[in-house]
Amino acid sequence: MKKMLVANWKLNPENVDLAVALAKLEDKKQVIICPPTPYLSAVGNVIKRAKLGAQDAFWEKEGPYTGNTSPTHIKSVGAKYVILGHSERRNILQEGDDAINQKVEASLKSGLQVILCIGEDLDSHQRGEKQTKLFITDQIIRGFKNIKWKDLRNIAIAYEPVWAISTSGSGLKDAPEESIKIIQFIKDFLRERYMLKKPVVLYGGSINSKNAENYLINDLIDGVLIGGASLDAKEFNKIIKICLER
Ligand code: PGA
Repeated sequence: MKKMLVANWKLNPENVDLAVALAKLEDKKQVIICPPTPYLSAVGNVIKRAKLGAQDAFWEKEGPYTGNTSPTHIKSVGAKYVILGHSERRNILQEGDDAINQKVEASLKSGLQVILCIGEDLDSHQRGEKQTKLFITDQIIRGFKNIKWKDLRNIAIAYEPVWAISTSGSGLKDAPEESIKIIQFIKDFLRERYMLKKPVVLYGGSINSKNAENYLINDLIDGVLIGGASLDAKEFNKIIKICLER
């Protein structure tokens, strides 16, 4: 399987012109560009090789839900993917597993491919591997609740240890062999519990052009979700090059 490179721009860049310029520079195969919602159309209009993704979607299609964006809105402007359950939404906006589960269900129903973020917090990490595994399996079980098996195949898991994300403030760095061990565990879990033959699991957490190879070299990792480094086209293109060489 070709590796996925998900560019999670978060709340950047500052305006639509900068977003369009950045998208043109990152418009490569295997790349999924996830700009802020207001830029989806403009970015979608200029990319030819990359795919378009959103950073979140609400669970209702339409109705009295001020400020939200539905999976059908996202789809209607050309997005094929949606990131759900990102740790910044879980932590800053107190988004819980039930809400995330509803978003997963609604997004899949609308035909979007879901990138479901999971990952242990610093406390669980410090309590050791057993607690880390409990934490992430719990997130998967809750996120997958009531989703039909045929739809589960349209979910890619992004394993992002929260403490390893560049903006987490922990100052800690993940070791590739540690995350690869957890990714193996996640894949085994998805195969055994959900009968998924080919579970797709990405890694995210301070990926840059210097460490990308350590992750992308491993066949277990189906791609990477990149925050900070995706805002720098030069840096991001170095990562694309590493990916294409694999
Ligand atoms: P980072 O962000 O690459 O800046 O660590 C990853 C993420 O939060 O998705």
